[in-house]
Amino acid sequence: MTDFKDLITPQMLPDGTAYPHTVFLKNVIQNPQIEVGEYTYYHDLNLSPGDDYASKLAPYLYENVPTKLIIGKFCSIAQGVTFLTNAANHQFDGFSTYPFAEFKQDWSSTYQANYQNRGYNTIGNDVWIGRNATIMPGVKIGSGAIIGAAAVVTKDVPDYCIAAGNPAKIIRKRFDDQAIKKLLEIQWWNWPDAKIFANIKYIVGQDIDQLIKIQ
Ligand SMILES: CC(C)(COP(=O)(O)OP(=O)(O)OC[C@H]1O[C@@H](n2cnc3c(N)ncnc32)[C@H](O)[C@@H]1OP(=O)(O)O)[C@@H](O)C(=O)NCCC(=O)NCCS
Repeated sequence: MTDFKDLITPQMLPDGTAYPHTVFLKNVIQNPQIEVGEYTYYHDLNLSPGDDYASKLAPYLYENVPTKLIIGKFCSIAQGVTFLTNAANHQFDGFSTYPFAEFKQDWSSTYQANYQNRGYNTIGNDVWIGRNATIMPGVKIGSGAIIGAAAVVTKDVPDYCIAAGNPAKIIRKRFDDQAIKKLLEIQWWNWPDAKIFANIKYIVGQDIDQLIKIQ
């Protein structure tokens, strides 16, 4: 029997059929430039299995540009979220931004294309990214963070912070510093699956002492 985390469409409708628009991303993306952790899901009413999730999420991941999108476990990613990776930027340190080198070899041989490299886009664990948010190249989002709907995230977002707006600003921390420190030590998302699912009520609860006790 297929393990739950290996399902493509993990949500069931009341009639027992699989809901086609929610997918575990790890099981529908084969692109070596994208790494996704277990249980991270993407919901999109316009996509279903068989569609190209990789290019929807990260439309500018080109094989010849050394960059990656890394997403942790148990993230929730809403429709329209876009990760702009390094290759999304044209060269713009010279007078023209027109990408001559991309079109003809005799054009590309006349100059050295010099693309920015801001590093990988890295998303932690248990991150919730709201509808139509755009994550800019090289941005790192910490575990437990929330990104508001339609945010344009241009800077790193620390663990367990809520960021929203364009450009996204930190609205607030979700918990006090001591609780955040403990949560990052506990890393419930790395517990064995059986332990996670036996303790869901504490994982979604607010009692840090209880989580510390069972870790
Ligand atoms: C960010 C979010 C989680 C709410 O967080 P919150 O802490 O409850 O925020 P509040 O509603 O108290 O608002 C706090 C401030 O942030 C602003 N804000 C909230 N969400 C915002 C957003 N998406 N974009 C810009 N500003 C936002 C509010 O206007 C408010 O500003 P103010 O302090 O100047 O008055 C929520 O607004 C959101 O965007 N959720 C995503 C929903 C979604 O996309 N779901 C898709 C299906 S999963």
